Order: sequence, then C-alpha cells, then structure tokens
Amino acid sequence: MKQADDVLILAIESSCDETAAAVVKNGREILSNEIYTQIALHTQFGGVVPEIASRKHIEKINQVIEKALEDAEVTLQDIDGIAVTYGPGLVGALLVGVAEAKAISFATGIPLVGVHHISGHISANYIEHPDLEPPFVCLVASGGHSHLVVVKDYGEYEIIGRTRDDAAGEAFDKVARAIGLGYPGGPKIDKLAKEGNPDAISFPRAKVAENEYDFSFSGLKSAVLNYLNSCQMKGEEVNQADVAASFQKAVIDVLVEHSLHAVKAFGFNKFAIAGGVASNSSLRAAFEKECAKRKITFYHPSPIYCTDNAAMIGVAGYYEYQKGVRHGYDLNAVPNLQL
Ligand code: KG4
Ligand code: ZN
Repeated sequence: MKQADDVLILAIESSCDETAAAVVKNGREILSNEIYTQIALHTQFGGVVPEIASRKHIEKINQVIEKALEDAEVTLQDIDGIAVTYGPGLVGALLVGVAEAKAISFATGIPLVGVHHISGHISANYIEHPDLEPPFVCLVASGGHSHLVVVKDYGEYEIIGRTRDDAAGEAFDKVARAIGLGYPGGPKIDKLAKEGNPDAISFPRAKVAENEYDFSFSGLKSAVLNYLNSCQMKGEEVNQADVAASFQKAVIDVLVEHSLHAVKAFGFNKFAIAGGVASNSSLRAAFEKECAKRKITFYHPSPIYCTDNAAMIGVAGYYEYQKGVRHGYDLNAVPNLQL
C-alpha cells in the first residue's frame, strides 16, 4: 500500500536487448522488476542486431510495463514520476522507451525524468545496501563501458579512468566468440573458466602510460586470438577452459589493481562495482578478497541488478526526481550521452 508521503517511480529501460520496467518506492525499495530479455533472439546472429532489438522492444514494452504495475500492486494513479533511460545505447532501442515514457507522461500528467544508463548501473548498489551513501568509488564494467567513477553525490560523477579501446564486457564477448562459445560471452566464459587453470597461459595485463586508471583490453583480445592461431598452425589442441580462465584472470587482475589503487589514492574506503561484468563470480571473489586485505568496504549488486534492468533506472530516477529534475516532451534518445 502506498502511504501519503511515499514516492513511487515507474522506470523504463530499453537501451540494448532487454525490455524492462520496474516500480521503485522511495528510491531503495523494489516493488517490481520485470525484464524481458531478447538474448535468445540475438544469439543466432552472434550479437545484438539493433533493428531486431527495436522491433522487439515495441512489441513487448506495453506488456512489460503492465506486468510491472501489476506485480507492484499499483496503478498509474499511484505513480509520482516516470524515469526512462535516454542514453547511452542503441538509438532505435532507446527511442522506444523514451517515446513510451513521453506518451504515458502526456496522457497522465505524471512528470518525466530522463536517466543516464550508467547512473542507473551505479545506483543498483543502493538497492541492497541501505547503508551505502556517496561518496565512494565505483567500477562500471559493462558491454559498452569500463569506467572508474568517483560518485561524489547522488547523480554526481567524476570519471577518473576509462577504456581506451574495448570495454571489459566487449572483450569477454569477442573472446567467447573466438573460442566458439557464442553470445553473450561473459556468462559462458565465467562458467567455463571454473574448469580451467587461470595460470595456464600468460596473457598481457596492459597499463596505459598517460593515465594509470585507464584500461585497454584490445591487446589482450589480440593476444588470445594470436594464441588460438598459433595453436592451430602447430596443430595443437586448444584447451578452451584454460584459455577462458587465463583470459578472465588477466581482465580481473587489471580491473582489481586499477580500481583499488584509485580507491586508496583518492582517499576513499568504500568501493562498489556495477554493470554486466560485475556479475562475474571470479571478479566478485577477487574484489571480496582484495578489499578485505586493504580494509575497503566492498559493495556489489545481486547479479539480476548488474545486467540491464529497470529497477536501477528507478533508483537513479528517484534521486533526480527529488532534486527537481523534470524533462519536457522534447526529451530525445542520446546514443552517446556523456556521464
Ligand atoms: O550492463 P550490461 O547488461 O549491458 C550494457 O550496458 O552493456 O552488460 C552486458 C555485458 C556483456 O558484454 C556480457 O558479456 C557481460 O556484461 N557479462 C558478463 C557476465 N554477465 C554479463 N561478463 C563476465 N561475466 C559474467 N558473468
Ligand atoms: Zn547496461
């Protein structure tokens, strides 16, 4: 039941291949979290096909929103704000969510709040950690981004490190494709790596000379491809599990070292992870261990809040709403929106 001073946000997310809607109460309580994942549809093409993603969003979005309201046991009359991801992401996919949010807002008069997708990923940490408040450092590792961010306040960010080339998730997806695991690569490598030896093959851990907090994963990806080619030329059998484990260890080592170095250098003792790659079991275990050693409090969302979902957009949207942020009906999808 909604109390008089409760703030309910209906959130919509459609930036890539998940059609999602959620109802969030007072910024931290998830009343519903409905996700229709298109993964099975895109798997046959080895990656997300933007045009197919947009069409499927259109087909599913009303159902997903209705289900989110139903699960939360509320109606649109109870909703105080509509939060929607308006970037970054695939333009056609984003447009579906943005148009839908604008239509509901126009028809009902409920205020519209545009949300940055990465702000959503970071805010996923607030869901299960009622004690977590800014400032803290957050590593955002997704299919499109690898950012080290100082979270100065709710919705206020300073990027201190970023990838120079591939994002961490992108590297997982490309390596998975190269060893024949298919899309999406992250969860498949995560699983296969458990059967392999992470020290079997020595892959590079890249440092970026100009900024010690930046990342570069394209060299690692090339090293894996070269390794696979040279095995093939020599007629040697490839141990897929060893490749997966050694590659994954190389990514994790770099993410852990750069992140925790930044946490200390910037004088923080709280650290969080976010984004699809943050659901990786070995990554979580490595951060758990290294943060404990360095007396840093480690926060991470449950896997369902790491990959794309609308609950995280509702959380970020709530803090924007409370600050008085309102968007007009000229809100547009911004595929390369900056944090
Ligand atoms: O955050 P997300 O769902 O979408 C973007 O905003 O990009 O992240 C998707 C990325 C994909 O590259 C996927 O392979 C990766 O996250 N991922 C993982 C795992 N689960 C998803 N990477 C490593 N280990 C996982 N368990
Ligand atoms: Zn995402």
